[in-house]
Amino acid sequence: MATEITAADIKQVGVIGAGQMGNGITHVSALAGYEVILNDISQEQLDKAVSTIEKNMARQVSRGTIGESESADALGRITATTDMAALGTADLVIESAVENEQIKLEIYTALCPLLKPEALIASNTSSISITRLAAATDRPEKFVGMHFMNPVPMMELVEVIRGIATGQDTYACVTEVARNLGKSPASAEDFPAFIVNRILLPMINEAVYTLYEGVGNVEAIDTAMRLGAHHPMGPLQLADFIGLDTCLAVMQVLYDGLADSKYRPCPLMVKYVDAGWVGRKSGRGFYDYSTEPPTPTR
Ligand SMILES: NC(=O)c1ccc[n+]([C@@H]2O[C@H](COP(=O)([O-])OP(=O)(O)OC[C@H]3O[C@@H](n4cnc5c(N)ncnc54)[C@H](O)[C@@H]3O)[C@@H](O)[C@H]2O)c1
Repeated sequence: MATEITAADIKQVGVIGAGQMGNGITHVSALAGYEVILNDISQEQLDKAVSTIEKNMARQVSRGTIGESESADALGRITATTDMAALGTADLVIESAVENEQIKLEIYTALCPLLKPEALIASNTSSISITRLAAATDRPEKFVGMHFMNPVPMMELVEVIRGIATGQDTYACVTEVARNLGKSPASAEDFPAFIVNRILLPMINEAVYTLYEGVGNVEAIDTAMRLGAHHPMGPLQLADFIGLDTCLAVMQVLYDGLADSKYRPCPLMVKYVDAGWVGRKSGRGFYDYSTEPPTPTR
C-alpha cells in the first residue's frame, strides 16, 4: 500500500498560471518557506508576476510586517519558467490558470506524465467540478480543490474542496499546507462554485442587472452597497477586481451545473467580456483605470 502523504512531505510547490492569483499563491508559498516553481505559457506574465511579488513584498517590508531578509530569502526561493518540465520535482502543484475547463484539462494532460507519482495536484478553480477535473488526471485520489481568495496575501480564507475520489490524506495534507501558508481553511463539498462564489457571484451578477436595468449607475450601486451594507468594496468594483471573464465563467458554471434560470449571466456582463473590458487587469471594466481615481464607465 502506498504511504500516506502528509504536509511534512511538501517541500516544493509548483504553481501553474502567473496571473493575479498565481502570483499571490507564489508570494505566500515562498514566504512560508516553500521552494516555488511558477509556470506560465507567457514569459510576459511571468515577468509581470515576479515584479508584482517584489513590489508587494517591498510594501510588507516598509510596513514592518516582514523583515528585509525574510523577503530576500522568499524571493530567492522562487523560480519562474515557461518550461512545464520544471514541475517534475514538485510535491504539490497548484494550478491557477484561466477559468476555462478545456485549458485546465489540457494542462493536466501535459502535466501528469512529468510529475512524481506521489505528487498532489490542487486546482484554484473558482467554480469547476473538482470531481470532473480529477477524473481527467492519472491521480484522482491525489487531486483536490484549493480555492484561494483575491488578493491572496491579504485574504485569510482557503476553501478546500474534496472531489468524490479525493483521498483523506490528500485532503488533510493540503488543509495543513493552507494553515502553513497562514490561511484558515474551510471545507466545501464539490458542488458548482463551492461556498464563497455560490453566494458572492449571484450578488455581483444581480448588481450588473441593476446597472443593466437602469436602477442605478455604477457609482450609485457601489456606494449603496459600501455604505448601506458595509461591504468594503462595491459589487461592480469587486467584479472588476475579480475579472469579468472569471465572473462570467463562474455564473455560467452555476447556470449549467444547477440548471436554474436564477443564475443566468447578465447580458451586460457578457457584452463587457466580449469587448475585452474585463476589469482592472485589462485597464477597463465597470471603471476606467487610466485615471486616478478610476472613472465609472456608466
Ligand atoms: N480572480 C479572482 O478573484 C479569483 C479568485 C479565486 C480563484 N480564481 C481562479 O484562479 C484561476 C486564475 O485566475 P486569475 O484571476 O489569476 O486569472 P488571470 O487571467 O489573471 O491569469 C491566468 C493566467 O493563466 C495563464 N495561462 C493560460 N493558459 C495557460 C497554460 N496552458 N499553461 C499555463 N498558464 C496558462 C495566463 O497566461 C495567465 O497568466 C482561475 O481558475 C480563477 O477562477 C480567481
